[in-house]
Amino acid sequence: MIKEIKAAELNTEQFIREKVEMIRSAVGDGTAINALSGGVDSSVVTMLGHRALGDNLKTYFIQNGLMRESEPESVQELFRKLDVPVKIIDARNEFLSALKGIRDPEEKREAITQTFYKHVFGRLVRESGAKHLLQGTILTDVDETVAGVKRQHNVFEQLGIDPQKEFGYRILEPLIQLRKDGVRKVGSAVGLPPILFDRIPFPGPALAARIIGEVTEERLNTVRKATSIVEKKLRETGAFQYMAILHEDRVTGMVDGKREFGQQIEIRCWDSVDARTATPTQLPFEMLTGLAGEIIGQVPGVVSVTYNIATKPPSTIEAV
Ligand code: XMP
Repeated sequence: MIKEIKAAELNTEQFIREKVEMIRSAVGDGTAINALSGGVDSSVVTMLGHRALGDNLKTYFIQNGLMRESEPESVQELFRKLDVPVKIIDARNEFLSALKGIRDPEEKREAITQTFYKHVFGRLVRESGAKHLLQGTILTDVDETVAGVKRQHNVFEQLGIDPQKEFGYRILEPLIQLRKDGVRKVGSAVGLPPILFDRIPFPGPALAARIIGEVTEERLNTVRKATSIVEKKLRETGAFQYMAILHEDRVTGMVDGKREFGQQIEIRCWDSVDARTATPTQLPFEMLTGLAGEIIGQVPGVVSVTYNIATKPPSTIEAV
């Protein structure tokens, strides 16, 4: 049973001290690696790991081809300013071929998990000689996986999977007692700029969690473009999380005066504190129509844009 630390009760300085010590004593004078996605959780773990291990932590950004526009370079640059070197690993082909032909949500997550932990990390661990992987699993990830809501791609132990046996390395999870609001507090205390700790959450399976049906390069490009537009336009709302989802069903539309069986983008924008429950943000209608106009004008093939007005539960925040 993991003992939750609620954001309101969190003493960030004490938490940081304890976790830095935990990482140091686990890794000793060996090396550890971690994957930085630029999301809140992995950014905080990177800072804790760097504080604990300095150069003995090797931080990688796995370019899996599922990331948002210019994400690898901008994350690398943000961390360069914090004196944390980040190496970008190009694994685009590996992920795309693992996802080929898969339509089922859980199979998609499993393909990403295996490619990430077994293949890409397995290789990095062998090359670097590291015995530990630092990872930003939080309590919500564990809860939802154990409850069978969604298999979060970074949860193993609670499912009876031993990473040491399965992948050949140990996983350290310094944030596992926290939820998102607590992680943000630690992020601020550990010196991350607000642009990183105040970012909206982004799922481990990245844009693959926002594509219903098969994940292909072309479909990734479509959802990536729509995501950029939605993120830019909805940033000022201060909502908990917002996203674009690419549907599989097509609908009839008109493009240049001709009938086109086109694609559909669904927009979601959530109010939430800790992602366990969420309600749709009451966006002004002009904002929604503005968004629809930009998406249809700038994302080729899209003829329909919808806004999701369901609550979580029974919906979940992501669509896949
Ligand atoms: P759901 O969709 O389950 O999402 O309501 C709850 C929160 O978790 C994020 N999320 C994920 N994060 N791996 C992650 O690291 C995942 O597989 C995953 N699925 C969802 C989601 O963005 C939301 O903030």
